[in-house]
Amino acid sequence: MKLRQITADFVARKRVLLRVDYNVPLKQQGKNQVVADDTRLKITLPTLEFLLKHQAKIIITSHLGRPEGKTVEKLKLDPVAKHLAKLLDKPVKKLDETVGENVEQVVSEMKPGEIVMLENCRFNEGEKTNDENFAKKLASLAEVFVNDGLAVSHRAHASVVGVTKHLPSGAGLALTEEVKQLESLMDNPSHPFVAIVGGAKISDKVEAIRNLSKVADVVLVGGGVANNFLKADGVDVFHSYLEDTPADVKKEKVSFVAVAEDLLEETKTEKMMLHDYIPLPKILYPSDVLAADKIDHTTKKKIITLANGNGHEERQNWMFVDIGPKTQKLYRNIILQAKTVFWNGPMGVFEKEAFSQGTKTIAKAMAKAKAKTVVGGGDTISAVKKFGLENHYDYLSAAGGAALELLGGKMLPGLKPLLAKERK
Ligand code: 3PG
Repeated sequence: MKLRQITADFVARKRVLLRVDYNVPLKQQGKNQVVADDTRLKITLPTLEFLLKHQAKIIITSHLGRPEGKTVEKLKLDPVAKHLAKLLDKPVKKLDETVGENVEQVVSEMKPGEIVMLENCRFNEGEKTNDENFAKKLASLAEVFVNDGLAVSHRAHASVVGVTKHLPSGAGLALTEEVKQLESLMDNPSHPFVAIVGGAKISDKVEAIRNLSKVADVVLVGGGVANNFLKADGVDVFHSYLEDTPADVKKEKVSFVAVAEDLLEETKTEKMMLHDYIPLPKILYPSDVLAADKIDHTTKKKIITLANGNGHEERQNWMFVDIGPKTQKLYRNIILQAKTVFWNGPMGVFEKEAFSQGTKTIAKAMAKAKAKTVVGGGDTISAVKKFGLENHYDYLSAAGGAALELLGGKMLPGLKPLLAKERK
């Protein structure tokens, strides 16, 4: 896909509305909240440096979390602005609103090379609904728009899509590079192509898993997402996390377990052949898990084999917290035979040492594989950083859900207005 690159002419000395995805984890440090993982800030530095070099007046907009149109104290962007100022060694003026008179006043007084950061755009109801008025107000702050947040480009929100109707728009350097890297996986990937999908929720990943299963040779599933497939296969997941609220998939009200069942049905005749000629189904989920009675390493835990009849396990409060050793071995074996591997989403509650083995096994196998390896998504990057393996992959993509959709061949709403042929 050919995106409109930002150029010196496009940005020089102009007021640039820069959409980034600084939806980063925060942690408490004494009385303050601080950024716990700054990957998403760091990847935007080349674009920021380009804009600074050309004396742009930079107006940064981002979301943080899902405040649902309300101001949420803990989701204010102040710690993010502070951290960015440190990285750039330059003041970043954080504003308390996203739009409005005060913001207009500050922006009108900006000098070339200055940076302001608007308050969390999702504190405004109009952001998520892509409200025309909100988009107009936001756009009116600037002369041009630059999108450098691939991670949020799957959302048709006002600060991603709406503003492009009102401003000449271009693609930032990080976004361009991420798209290029992910596209190189889609266009003619070396096979076997192994996709690994984990994390807690299946809701954002349904279409992506469906699309990925068309591109990749096998999709290895873990984490909470696997529970939907296990349940669909009639396995008792006890008290494990299971996202099974009605989903509006294909505009019908269905449950996520039913969705997983459909995916299995759609792909059931497809077999992936490994080099040692073991036929495997297209979508693989765990055959054993580590279960615990609490998400706490001091509690009881045990391996449960998920072959028929796990329903006879004594009725403990078992929760699945990681993939089991047999599953780890199989997934590792598959990854080591791959020529291309894409991974999004941890295999279990990797934040707890006792439940991190499955995620670590995937991270290590990918680091060892003689394959093009791409790790995507905030949690997955946090995991590989925790294991000290972040420098062992070909590319780390900060985009999670957006990367999955793009890999599946979908045109993201935030990228469509940036396509070269549609330049205004
Ligand atoms: C992400 O972290 O995946 C992006 O920031 C998008 O966030 P969202 O899923 O809340 O839209």
